[in-house]
Amino acid sequence: MRVVVTGGGGFLGSHLCEALLSRGDRVVCLDDFSTSEPGNTAHLREHPGFTFVYADVATGIDVPGRIDAVAHLASPASPPDYHRRPLETLAVGSRGTENALRLAARHGARFLLASTSEVYGDPVIHPQRENYWGNVNPVGPRSVYDEAKRFAEALSMAYRRSLSTDVGIVRIFNTYGPRMRPHDGRVVSTFIRQALDGEPLTIYGDGSQTRSFCYVDDMVRGLLAMIDSDVPGPLNLGNPSERTVRELADLVCETTRSTSGVEFRPLPVDDPTRRRPVITQAQHQLGWYPQVPMEDGLRETVGWFTSRQRRLSRDRADEEPAAC
Ligand SMILES: NC(=O)c1ccc[n+]([C@@H]2O[C@H](COP(=O)([O-])OP(=O)(O)OC[C@H]3O[C@@H](n4cnc5c(N)ncnc54)[C@H](O)[C@@H]3O)[C@@H](O)[C@H]2O)c1
Repeated sequence: MRVVVTGGGGFLGSHLCEALLSRGDRVVCLDDFSTSEPGNTAHLREHPGFTFVYADVATGIDVPGRIDAVAHLASPASPPDYHRRPLETLAVGSRGTENALRLAARHGARFLLASTSEVYGDPVIHPQRENYWGNVNPVGPRSVYDEAKRFAEALSMAYRRSLSTDVGIVRIFNTYGPRMRPHDGRVVSTFIRQALDGEPLTIYGDGSQTRSFCYVDDMVRGLLAMIDSDVPGPLNLGNPSERTVRELADLVCETTRSTSGVEFRPLPVDDPTRRRPVITQAQHQLGWYPQVPMEDGLRETVGWFTSRQRRLSRDRADEEPAAC
């Protein structure tokens, strides 16, 4: 297969590109590095099946040659990123999604939309099944992301209904793992960075709000299964094991052997209080369920953050002028 991955330079995208290449697929990765680092795919650049195209997919996508699948992941994904880039977030969710859909439709290719649990907003139904329509504030600060993804879902379904495009939608719940950026503002990466830097872990609210965390390897298996299927979705992909943010903070402190403690701050506007996917649809239709326990995934992620820190301080030391 030849697969176009938009946002392939990002956290999830780079793991997806790697997994596709390792099973023998060819990959065309499109990214503008607006919320990621070129280093995520640097190790793939020499792979004969890998092509990188620097592009803003909201302005157009031009990929010559045969295409069997388009996985559309390009989008800012963490609150600080989409607050910093509100117009770009709406543009990539709307025009970017349409450009990616057009490409898939032109080639008769499978189209995978990476949607999000944020389409459920601050849910009044718990846990969340795919038939729940959500509770989103359409004009709040998070709306640029939530509504862009809701529009992207609607557009994808319209392509499926009107043009018979082979669309599949997944709603991704919180995913963590190596290659998250330490300052991306997501809770797992922030806690790990703070713990390793000896800073107190910042908890917004009283820490009783819940999240469910899926390890990246599990998520990538789900994305591959969806690409390979003709299931339309939307399907929830995430780990149904629910934890409070306070529990997560304790687990991070334990894994990093940190004694920094925690610090409480006021909850941001529209911050969801509970999140947990029902994944029976993904289990039945894809045979998918997460397998990596949080303790193991966290150990891997902390290991990656630690070696990144070591590498950076080594590089910094190399750059420092030698003392006379
Ligand atoms: N990681 C999660 O927990 C999570 C949860 C729900 C949904 N998702 C979705 O999965 C996808 C990937 O998320 P991620 O966590 O890897 O985020 P990420 O920020 O690491 O990756 C997104 C990538 O898209 C690129 N990008 C953004 N706008 C672009 C544009 N206009 N043109 C080209 N490239 C562009 C960025 O540079 C980045 O490399 C996103 O669509 C996100 O909404 C992720």
